[in-house]
Amino acid sequence: MNIRKATPNDVEAIARMKRKLWPDADDDLAQETLNIIKNGEPDLLLVADDGELRGFIEVSERRYAEGCKSSPVPYIEGWWVDESFRRQGVGAALVHAVEDICKERGHTELASDTWFDHELSVRAHTALGFDVVETATHFRKALSKAEKTLSKAGKDVEGAYDVWAASYDSDQNKTRDLAHEVMQAALRDFSGSVLDIGCGTGTMLQAVSSNFDTVAGFDVSEEMLAQARKKLPDADLRVADLREAWPTEDGSFDVVYETLVLEHIEDLGHFYQEAARLLRPGGVLLVVEFHPIRQAQNRGAEFELNGKTIQLQSFQHGFADMVSPALAAGLQLMETGEYSSAVDQTPRVLKLVFSA
Ligand SMILES: C[S@@+](CC[C@H](N)C(=O)[O-])C[C@H]1O[C@@H](n2cnc3c(N)ncnc32)[C@H](O)[C@@H]1O
Repeated sequence: MNIRKATPNDVEAIARMKRKLWPDADDDLAQETLNIIKNGEPDLLLVADDGELRGFIEVSERRYAEGCKSSPVPYIEGWWVDESFRRQGVGAALVHAVEDICKERGHTELASDTWFDHELSVRAHTALGFDVVETATHFRKALSKAEKTLSKAGKDVEGAYDVWAASYDSDQNKTRDLAHEVMQAALRDFSGSVLDIGCGTGTMLQAVSSNFDTVAGFDVSEEMLAQARKKLPDADLRVADLREAWPTEDGSFDVVYETLVLEHIEDLGHFYQEAARLLRPGGVLLVVEFHPIRQAQNRGAEFELNGKTIQLQSFQHGFADMVSPALAAGLQLMETGEYSSAVDQTPRVLKLVFSA
């Protein structure tokens, strides 16, 4: 099967396929096809030819495509393989040929669309690596490695931390450093069993692990945990989403703590109920978080990737938001503290200590 650019000799065969693809089209599909072939770039019309034409793909350059960041962006306007030649890689070969040409032209994305109930087409797109970007079922496929990484980072908090994990420890981050300093000092006098919720790359847990007999951590990001496992090979580190039931029995820990995780959790009621459930009677919960003043300035978690700033989804929690659900979960507030770094005009982190 040869994939090649369409010529005027192919017009009738392509128009026949287009009539099957768009049975409601009023246009003169043959004339329109001829115009595309004659006009040439930036439009692109390729055919799959094995003596007879078996399929075609038509691509234009649009100024805007849903979910895409670049402009102009190549857009698959029509893609067809005759029924008896489907599931033989003809459609994939057409798309791959388009990708190669688009990459040569310097594009980093390829967009497409289909009807949401067109199951075969939806499956064909996703099998070829296109991401669904909107419920209107428009597609976007990252063509470069950098775009693929950006695409993952922008997906959700978990995906963002999976990408951030490699550089999280080495990135400059005053808030992380101050939060760790405050938490390390706060944990100095505790012992027994400890759980770090949202432990990330495990830096904090490593710093305090020698104070405790048993050390555990939960995090939703596999990649952050992979970094933590390198530092703490003997710790009980588990993938867990704090928005769901936490995978540990009641009364398992003397100390539960978190640093800089609550901004990613909308429902703090569930968070505090689970923390309270895991604590032994008399156990302690320590929270070190973005200070509410800083949250109000929209200073949530963000990092740089390939020259772009990735902002993670975060929820603002005022002082009462962070304390009231803890009291409702049966915890008692023992201590509070506000901390700034040398460059700060306002407090950067807030410390809360509760007892069970
Ligand atoms: C700013 S990092 C802080 C990491 C670590 N506590 C520290 O201080 O270095 C936030 C961490 O929360 C985790 N996280 C965010 N949402 C979560 C969720 N729903 N369940 C579990 N972990 C979550 C992220 O994967 C990330 O490791």
